[in-house]
Amino acid sequence: MSATDPSVRPDLPVGSDPPVGSDPPSVQAGAPGAGPDSLSALVGSPIALRAALDDAGYLADDGLATALFCAARLPQPLLLEGEAGVGKTEAAKALAGVVDTPLIRLQCYEGIDAAEALYEWNFPRQLLAIRAAEAAGSRLAETDLFTRDYLIGRPLLRAVDHPGPRPAVLLIDEIDRADDEFEAFLFELLAEGSVTIPELGTLRAAHPPIVVLTSNRTRDLHDALKRRCLYHWIDYPDLERTTAIIRRRVPGAAEPLAHQVAAAVRRLRTLDVQKPPGVAEAINWVLALDLLGARALDETAAAATLGSVLKYREDIEAIEEKGMTWLAGPR
Ligand SMILES: Nc1ncnc2c1ncn2[C@@H]1O[C@H](COP(=O)(O)OP(=O)(O)O)[C@@H](O)[C@H]1O
Ligand SMILES: [Mg+2]
Repeated sequence: MSATDPSVRPDLPVGSDPPVGSDPPSVQAGAPGAGPDSLSALVGSPIALRAALDDAGYLADDGLATALFCAARLPQPLLLEGEAGVGKTEAAKALAGVVDTPLIRLQCYEGIDAAEALYEWNFPRQLLAIRAAEAAGSRLAETDLFTRDYLIGRPLLRAVDHPGPRPAVLLIDEIDRADDEFEAFLFELLAEGSVTIPELGTLRAAHPPIVVLTSNRTRDLHDALKRRCLYHWIDYPDLERTTAIIRRRVPGAAEPLAHQVAAAVRRLRTLDVQKPPGVAEAINWVLALDLLGARALDETAAAATLGSVLKYREDIEAIEEKGMTWLAGPR
């Protein structure tokens, strides 16, 4: 994409969606000019979004559906917090599916920086251009070398660059793994829907991305980041919902098995285990049990598959001591 691309122009807000932080737009479904493929039609209300997520295989409760609706339609970044494996990442993926837009994912880690998150200059390409110019007897000025042609776009830039027609979903996953300076680095994008590249200036998105940040809460995030975001805590789903999620993800599994595993996972969480199992572990457990031909969770099946649900030797030993009858539960 060149610097003259109409979808991203330095310092010029283009497109109909105002950037994050400006006056909130109207959120009426079916507003004039909103076609059937528009964001407002696809994400018409929290109830409609919940139903669409359900169709896409993701079961959200009203609170999460409302949070995702507001994130998409205000738009305002949404910070999803919760224990590992409760469905934070999947919520962003499912939202992108419903909006029928690319999911652009930035996986955070300790030490992540702008070069990984936003952009990098393509030095080999710049060097080649310099050599080619020299061979032709000319010289390239610095301004010729620091243009979009020599830029490698990383997830944040790709999200801002997204040409539409609907905004991309930008998933900034596990922000708690990044250093806290990286949080500050995100402020411009979160508050303005823009990014700044010193050599090129400020690039403002034609379609500001729908931003979902997730955190497993391994550390507290700064108030300054939270101030810029909507917040939603995803709790472990209750027994009924866990069973429904398992049945959705493992359609072939017997219904009693799904229910028993959901109950057993809840039982495990009452113990002081190092890694309490989330929805992900419940699904994997049922997959393993189903593969082994189990129609119900009994002591033998539970003992054979503990590694699907517990990931620490000490946790496994603690459960073995407690007994498989306790784990498998009443039948
Ligand atoms: N509400 C839900 N509906 C459907 N699947 C879910 C739900 N919550 C979690 N899952 C499933 O559980 C697994 C773990 O979810 P994930 O989003 O990776 O968790 P987290 O990001 O919170 O650690 C995924 O396979 C996902 O499909
Ligand atoms: Mg995740």
